[in-house]
Amino acid sequence: MSDPELPEHVRRNRAYWDGMAQEWIEPGRAAWQSEEPYWGIWRIPESELHLLPDDLAGMDAIELGCGTGYVSAWLARRGAKPVGIDNSPNQLETARAFQKEFGLDFPLLLGNAEEVPLPSGSFDLAISEYGAAIWADPYRWIPEAARLLRPGGRLVFVTNGTLIMLTMPDLEASGPATERMLRPYFGMHRFEWPDSEGVEFHLGYGDWIRLLRANGFEVEDLVEFRPPADAAARSRFEWVTLEWARRWPSEQAWKARKRSPAR
Ligand SMILES: C[S@@+](CC[C@H](N)C(=O)[O-])C[C@H]1O[C@@H](n2cnc3c(N)ncnc32)[C@H](O)[C@@H]1O
Repeated sequence: MSDPELPEHVRRNRAYWDGMAQEWIEPGRAAWQSEEPYWGIWRIPESELHLLPDDLAGMDAIELGCGTGYVSAWLARRGAKPVGIDNSPNQLETARAFQKEFGLDFPLLLGNAEEVPLPSGSFDLAISEYGAAIWADPYRWIPEAARLLRPGGRLVFVTNGTLIMLTMPDLEASGPATERMLRPYFGMHRFEWPDSEGVEFHLGYGDWIRLLRANGFEVEDLVEFRPPADAAARSRFEWVTLEWARRWPSEQAWKARKRSPAR
């Protein structure tokens, strides 16, 4: 699909992420190097969060918005057969370079996670860590994830905590998340910040649950991340302090399962 045919937010996010790709090379390499998966800005280990299915061996997995590809690399090392799709040619270039550097190969596709050029019912796991989970429109990518999964397939996605989206100042330069509600909860969907070219999407809890259920998912868990007290040095991001994130969830992961048709 050529640029002008992409939805406006997808076109904008392609330009945004192509511009950001350079900054994600070193963090991407560190994640590729890690034996144990870790999640989010506080790098909380998988052994604490349990986001992944226990046995990934042989699972067909798709990473929606794979970026530098480290989540897919973790899945591949645990025996899954991942496919990564990402909207940014520059991010995929990094992912391909890491495949060579780390001697691991899996398919990488350039495309929009809201419209994946693969057959229905091809996957056992759909996963996104801050990929489609925040940069694609949930009213488009959740139905697409449902289409791609087999009955019983799992959906796991990591995104910002709901409360933090309401308490962050408009400008990043104004400082980290506050203790005040700065914008309405009702109507949460598309977020544009005055100091960023990117377009993000965040929903309230009820809207997430209704959207997942309407697309045939059972919600299995909402894992709200609480970093340990000594995690200050783990985050390179300035939009939340450790003190804030110890009191309220700065990040969250939804775990859902696609219902099997009733017999
Ligand atoms: C913060 S990165 C997350 C990926 C990965 N966890 C990482 O850190 O490398 C966000 C990624 O989402 C991708 N993305 C944004 N919109 C997308 C869309 N509509 N479809 C597929 N990927 C998308 C961006 O190109 C970017 O590589």
